[in-house]
Amino acid sequence: MKIAIGADHGGYSLKEILKQHLLERGLKVEDFGAFDTQSCHYPVYAEKVARAVAAKEAELGLLVCGTGIGMSIAANKVKGIRAAAVSDCFTAQATREHNDSNILCLGERTVGPGLAMRIVDTWLDASFLGGRHQIRVDMISALEK
Ligand code: RB5
Repeated sequence: MKIAIGADHGGYSLKEILKQHLLERGLKVEDFGAFDTQSCHYPVYAEKVARAVAAKEAELGLLVCGTGIGMSIAANKVKGIRAAAVSDCFTAQATREHNDSNILCLGERTVGPGLAMRIVDTWLDASFLGGRHQIRVDMISALEK
């Protein structure tokens, strides 16, 4: 499985930690930047990752900024993207099982690296449950038309 990753300056350090973690899990990673902590604009990286996921060049995406929220707002503007800003393991599992989220957004300023790694693992290990949840996800997709 390939995962597209990205961050702004506020998420760069956590993105680097999570990139290593994903590689250690045996995942392929495509890193869309940023590549340092110089001030930059998070929608740039949200769009790159979202477009890669929407085009199925990567199965899933991971975005990190200061809070995860700006990244999620921007990524969700791309058709086919269901990006979830998450800061706990319960929500990480629920958003895969119920929302079929395809991009996980984390905040370097809101979660520490240990919790962030556990959130990523929980999200990756969970699966979409389908059924009644598929009906609701289809309703979300219909909003894009
Ligand atoms: C950058 O200062 C910060 O606004 C950004 O990383 C993010 O938290 C936005 O949601």
